[in-house]
Amino acid sequence: MKRSKRIEALDQRAVNKDGFIDEWPEMGCIAMKSPYDPKPSIRVENGVITELDGKKREDFDFLDQFIADYSIRADRADESMAMSSLSIARKIVDIETPRKEILKIISGITPAKMVEVINHLNVVEMMMGMQKMRARRIPGNQAHITNLKDDPVQIAADAAEGALRGFREEETTTGVARYAPFNAMALLIGSQAGRKGVLTQCAVEEATELELGIRGLTTYAETLSVYGTEKVFIDGDDTPYSKAFLNSAYASRGLKVRFTSGSGSEVLMGSSEKKSMLYLECKCLFMTKGAGCQGIQNGSVSCIGVAASVPAGIREVMGENLVAALLGLECASSNDQSFSNSDMRRTARTMLQFMPGTDFIFSGYAAEPNYDNMFAGSNFDAEDFDDYNVLQRDMQVDGGLRPVTEEEVIRVRSEAGKAVQAVFKYLGLTEITDEQVEAVTYAHGSRDTLKRDVAADLMAADDMMKRGITGVDVVRALAESGYTSLADSILSMLKQRVIGDYMHTAAILDENFQVMSGVNTPNDYLGPGTGYRVDGSRWEEIKAIPHRIDANTF
Ligand code: 5AD
Ligand code: CA
Repeated sequence: MKRSKRIEALDQRAVNKDGFIDEWPEMGCIAMKSPYDPKPSIRVENGVITELDGKKREDFDFLDQFIADYSIRADRADESMAMSSLSIARKIVDIETPRKEILKIISGITPAKMVEVINHLNVVEMMMGMQKMRARRIPGNQAHITNLKDDPVQIAADAAEGALRGFREEETTTGVARYAPFNAMALLIGSQAGRKGVLTQCAVEEATELELGIRGLTTYAETLSVYGTEKVFIDGDDTPYSKAFLNSAYASRGLKVRFTSGSGSEVLMGSSEKKSMLYLECKCLFMTKGAGCQGIQNGSVSCIGVAASVPAGIREVMGENLVAALLGLECASSNDQSFSNSDMRRTARTMLQFMPGTDFIFSGYAAEPNYDNMFAGSNFDAEDFDDYNVLQRDMQVDGGLRPVTEEEVIRVRSEAGKAVQAVFKYLGLTEITDEQVEAVTYAHGSRDTLKRDVAADLMAADDMMKRGITGVDVVRALAESGYTSLADSILSMLKQRVIGDYMHTAAILDENFQVMSGVNTPNDYLGPGTGYRVDGSRWEEIKAIPHRIDANTF
């Protein structure tokens, strides 16, 4: 066939390197509504839910039973289920209906009813819903802090810069699993060097992660994965009950916890039961609620390639973020793993959470170059910082970040590197040279840094765990090496574990270690003239991008 030059040019576009597939409900490749999804129904007898979405109690699998017993207010079920799905959808968008009233209605509905409600909303209505239903008054943002070498100096420097740029939470993971204690400790120190009160996490194998948390080397946990079908849960040697227990293990030591879920995981693991991605995700979110967990990281997350390949997949992703908020959960709304070769498409996808604001717009913005992201790449990277700052300025939207100066970046990176160097020396871990700190201070990524002795690092990391090093040892090392302010900050983070307020829904800390959560600073949006607005000093900060003509000096 003689080719059209127009079509040939289009074929070369980045978006056509992405994968797309038709709807295929039998394989679970269907976003919002599968012909095999159950119809909503409920029956309550003597306070016990005996029928849920067309299934009798004797036929329940463990997800149904968990949801029936813990996730739905049986005393509110009859009233809420009697309302039409359309009328609930309209109330979600209606600016006269406050968030609290919606939460009450939602507390009595079933997962299949939730699916019907969400199917009535287009993406703009979903954004309006999120603007009202987000738990915390001000939106926030979370960063990935990783690098190819698991270099603790770079972790600390990138964490400091990320904190300076406004991230309220920072998470790391490892290239080599045995590096976990170093990564967690470097992240803890670096984050506080950039801005006090930033929460940190080290996403690794469950037992190690819990141990790092109990020792005070991390301040929250997030990758407690839940799934929408029994088979997938069992394949992971888990049940809703085991996840609820793990949640409590963290909570008992005063650590903030959120679960992780998201559409596409059941498709990838070959067990979708022919249900829509939205329905399965609703089951995950109801389960999260029932486990007493304060929040969720969702929006397909690492399975975004699956959701993004089907029609209305990105609408579904926003839909599942909204379901989390409707259930009163904190929502860290993905924009996490990279899914598209197209800059237009990856940006457009992010606008759904950016414009209304969510508790964490990104549940993992790569605060390092793409090649250093050990979470398999993120939708936005360190190279995108200025684009993002301009988007905030263009639209007068708070995306959780702020412009910074080169001087500040160099200063906090250097401070963080030196502090980690001092702690390593005090604790007798591996040597960190001045040249290493210098290279990391001015580096973009690990291609610009020096080699580390991996064998020595891993032995020292093992040793650190054997010696029982805790957050308090880090505080002592900093204090006795002259870093008293940093030592104070980390001690303040440890004190939070005893106070416990930051376990409240959607909690973050300000620079004075004061909690801002859905409890003490709840979202009070109720139409124009209400709720959080970008103004005052925050607007001045957003406006002041470095690449502008400064009217005062022109
Ligand atoms: N469902 C459940 N867990 C997920 N994670 C990421 N995406 C999903 C999802 N769709 C969790 C996994 C992974 C970590 C980065 O987050 O535990 O290892
Ligand atoms: Ca995350």
